[in-house]
Amino acid sequence: MLEGVVVKMMGPDFLLWRCLHSGPLTKETVDQPQPHPACPWEEFKRRNVPLLAKLTEVYGACAVVAMDEDRIVGQLRFYPAFLCSMAASGPGLCLQQRFPAGPADDLAARTFPPLSRLEDKTLFVHCLMTGSPQQERNPYQRKGLGAAMVRRLAEWAKANGWQAIEANAFEDLDLIYAVTGSAGKMFWEKLGFRVVETRVEPALMRENDFVKALRRQAAARGLSAKCVANQYRMRLDLTG
Ligand SMILES: CC(C)(COP(=O)(O)OP(=O)(O)OC[C@H]1O[C@@H](n2cnc3c(N)ncnc32)[C@H](O)[C@@H]1OP(=O)(O)O)[C@@H](O)C(=O)NCCC(=O)NCCS
Repeated sequence: MLEGVVVKMMGPDFLLWRCLHSGPLTKETVDQPQPHPACPWEEFKRRNVPLLAKLTEVYGACAVVAMDEDRIVGQLRFYPAFLCSMAASGPGLCLQQRFPAGPADDLAARTFPPLSRLEDKTLFVHCLMTGSPQQERNPYQRKGLGAAMVRRLAEWAKANGWQAIEANAFEDLDLIYAVTGSAGKMFWEKLGFRVVETRVEPALMRENDFVKALRRQAAARGLSAKCVANQYRMRLDLTG
């Protein structure tokens, strides 16, 4: 892994309420986003900070971060499984999206049962990112940071009484790693996760440039065009 980079659970002192698309963030720069036509930053901050603070208070953490000195250069967000399936929030928990792709505005005001009262003690990895994927130069990718964040999560989750970690994955194609925040199946398998369910992601069945590019990458690796739409639910059992 990169020398000097520390991987740790995100604490209440520095809540990363937006993502790293624009570059690494410090405690100061996180609150100074550049204007963006699709991102109402003040609205997102008002919604996200209380949500992250409450999750941290009730469960101890809701993200793993990689720190290069005072800058966050990697993030892994996770949520208890019940939160992902809460009727009104649906699967959308992206902090840089409006509801329903992002959390409902009142999500933080709802009751979050403590872990001891949760029937399903599974954590779900919502997304991960190392460095700033949209930037031309990314010195933080493919250096083991992503894997280190998952290992840190597994250690913490086991020590805190969670029974499993799940994540979605797709085929091991460059474009999947470049833009999805879910990684390829191999990334998770190397960390001990196993496929427990395979479903078809309708968005990856469409005829658009992204899907066509995925199919070209699949063909170059001898994979069928159909498989690019496969979404794998990966699971790591922590009870053994
Ligand atoms: C997915 C991601 C977090 C992986 O993090 P990373 O720190 O680069 O991954 P690691 O170095 O820990 O890689 C572990 C293994 O995963 C696999 N892997 C990682 N990146 C890969 C790639 N681009 N292509 C193929 N396999 C890859 C490899 O098996 C790798 O092991 P190896 O390097 O020994 O071969 C990173 O690619 C990323 O940030 N992608 C952009 C995500 C994004 O845009 N998220 C926002 C969505 S809103």
